[in-house]
Parts: sequence; structure tokens; C-alpha cells
Amino acid sequence: MLEHGLTEDEIFKKLSEFYDMDLHYESGRILGSMCTKPDPVAMKAYKMFIETNLGDPGLFKGTAIMEREVISILGELLHLSNPAGHIVTGGTEANIMAMCVAKYLYESRRDGIPEVILPRSAHFSFKKIVSMLSLKPVYVPLDDNYKMDVSKIEDLITENTMAIVAIAGTTELGMVDDIEEISRIASSHNIYLHVDAALGGFILPFLDKENSVQLNFDFKCQGVSSMTIDPHKMGLAPVPAGGIIFRHKEHLDLLSVKTPYLTKDKQTTIVGTRTGAATAATWTLLNHYGKEGYKKTVKNTINLTQYTYKKLQSMKNISVICKPELNLISFKTDCMDVDSLKQELLKLDWHVSVAEYPYAIRLVLMPHVKKEHIDKFLKDLDKILKRR
Ligand SMILES: Cc1ncc(COP(=O)(O)O)c(C=O)c1O
Repeated sequence: MLEHGLTEDEIFKKLSEFYDMDLHYESGRILGSMCTKPDPVAMKAYKMFIETNLGDPGLFKGTAIMEREVISILGELLHLSNPAGHIVTGGTEANIMAMCVAKYLYESRRDGIPEVILPRSAHFSFKKIVSMLSLKPVYVPLDDNYKMDVSKIEDLITENTMAIVAIAGTTELGMVDDIEEISRIASSHNIYLHVDAALGGFILPFLDKENSVQLNFDFKCQGVSSMTIDPHKMGLAPVPAGGIIFRHKEHLDLLSVKTPYLTKDKQTTIVGTRTGAATAATWTLLNHYGKEGYKKTVKNTINLTQYTYKKLQSMKNISVICKPELNLISFKTDCMDVDSLKQELLKLDWHVSVAEYPYAIRLVLMPHVKKEHIDKFLKDLDKILKRR
């Protein structure tokens, strides 16, 4: 540590150097991220509430009211009146909270190692969760459309089944599991069902009729007990903004611990001290955009995804893994292996990611990606393939 601090000018000169090393969303070069450039109004709100701590809500009463309003709007969006939940750090924390609740419910009726049934496509946060909570993961294979094969679920249910997890917008391909059918199965066996809509939660409610994937993916399905929905993905909020919504307040209350030295006597989040700025940003977005604003953003994103999909399909030597349901596309080529193609693209400053199953180049078309970026990308891709 320096003995004497730097001046503000010196600090910001150094900060600019770090900033310039980063990639920035508006370059259009980031094609593999589920986060995006936050809306400027949301960033203004974030800055305004930067000192707030929702871990001590008695001091920040206005921010705490905003959090309740945000949860209420998210509940309404997901067809749930009287939702309980929080704005948390992201999808991982939201999924941890849901699995903690499911485990406490399980432990109140059984001992034995709790089992969680989840699709092979589940996000890696569940790998952390099963390890942290000592759960036994029971993986369901995917069907031909890369969705959880619902016909296999019932065979995997045992008396130790603690929960089923379904995904509304898989991380690798953006596919939406058949939540309605999974909900029916969960209800008939009285099993806790968590829907991870970290990505799809801010897309599915805003799709227009012709692009609609599934109408019943949320609390309309009576078997759904909790949902993850992340403002810092397609909600356009700054990081860290995840969302967890529970159907029953008593379920959230299972996470409650006493907080003797704080202004409220209990807390139902995993994190103690937590920013209220993300809540303020999310409140701002929900109220500033309204349904129409999000519909417009989603429409642009889905149209660009469909445009990219068609272009890729028309390219010789490219095979697209599946027809996109949301804003993700994965593809491969016979000209070279996936890692080499990724490297070649990186040399041209394209930052794509890779899907593990099936192994393929993965594109996420977030709102910072525009048609001109895609056209340039496709041109470069074509150039690379022609060199082979
Ligand atoms: C479906 C799904 N769930 C959970 C997560 C984890 O979210 P986070 O990275 O915000 O913790 C992701 C992240 O991409 C995701 O795609």
C-alpha cells in the first residue's frame, strides 16, 4: 500500500488504463455474454442509491419499499399475486436460496440424502449447490430438442426426491423445458419444483404471438414453487441484480435468521450486507420501460437472432445445432473443430463462447449486439471458413 495516496487525477489516469483494457459492450464484439450494457437511466438510479444497504433495511426504508415493489411487479409478470422474494446478486444466489428452502422442507419430513432431479442442461450453479448443500444430483437426459426429457422424470423419482429443477431458457442453447408437464408431474408427486428462468424470465413474458415459445412457463403452473429471474441479464440492469420469487411467503421465511444488531430483527437472504442500488436500478427499469418497452427490446433481440440463424443456415459447411427459441444460437462447421474456430474468431477480435453439449460455438444475442455487428461477424466467419 502507498504511504501517501495519489491525487484524483493520478487515480483516474490509472483507472482509464484499466478501463481501456476491458472489452465494452457497445463495441459489438461481445457475442457470448448473458449480461449487456445497462440502460443509462438504470445506471443513474444505481449511482443515486449506491450507499444503500438492504441488509439493514430499517435505515433505508425507501429502498426497502422499492424492493417490495420490484418483487410485486416481477410476481405479476410471472402470474403470481402476493409473491415473496428478494433482489439478490444473481442467478446463482437465487438458485441457492430455492434449493435451501427445498432442503429445509425435505428435512422436516425425511432424513436420507436429498436428491434433486435436474436436466443435463442445468446451469453450473447447480454443481456448486449440490456440493454446498450435500445433495445428490439426479440428471435427466435431454430429448431431441435439447429439453429435459419429461418422459424420463417419473422413473427417477424416489422417496428421497427433494426437488425438481426445470429451466426456462437454458444457458447453452436458450431452450425452454416443458414447464407445464413438469409442473403436473411435480404436483402429482407432491415434489418442490423450482424453475430457473434466470435468462428467460425477462424474455418469455414479452414475446409476441408469432415468436411465443410457451405460454405456461411460470406460476400459472400450479406445481411451480419458486422461480429465478435475473434483471442483470435481459432485464438490462447493472450487475449484481438477480431475482428469486417464492409462491409462499412461509417458504422464504424458512431462510430467516435473527439479526440482533440490525434495524430489523430477521433476514431472509444469504448475503448480509447487500446493495440497494441494484434494486433501485431494477425498479427504475420496470417503471421506465413498462411492458411495451421490454416488448420492443425483446422483439429486436429475437428478430436479430432469427436473422442470424437464417444467415448461418444458408452458409455452406455450417450446421446450426437447433432452431433458437430465445436469443442464443449454437453452431459448428465441418471445416475445423470448435476450439480452432473459436481461436480464429478471437484473432479477429470476436468474443464468442462455447457450448459444452453439444460442443459448439455459442452466440448470445443480447441487446448490445446490432445487425451491423452480426453482418461483420458473418463476413469474418465466411472468410475463416474459405481459408480452409
Ligand atoms: C439459466 C441460468 N441460471 C443461473 C445462472 C447463474 O446466474 P449468475 O451468473 O447471475 O449467478 C445463469 C447464468 O448464466 C443461467 O444462464
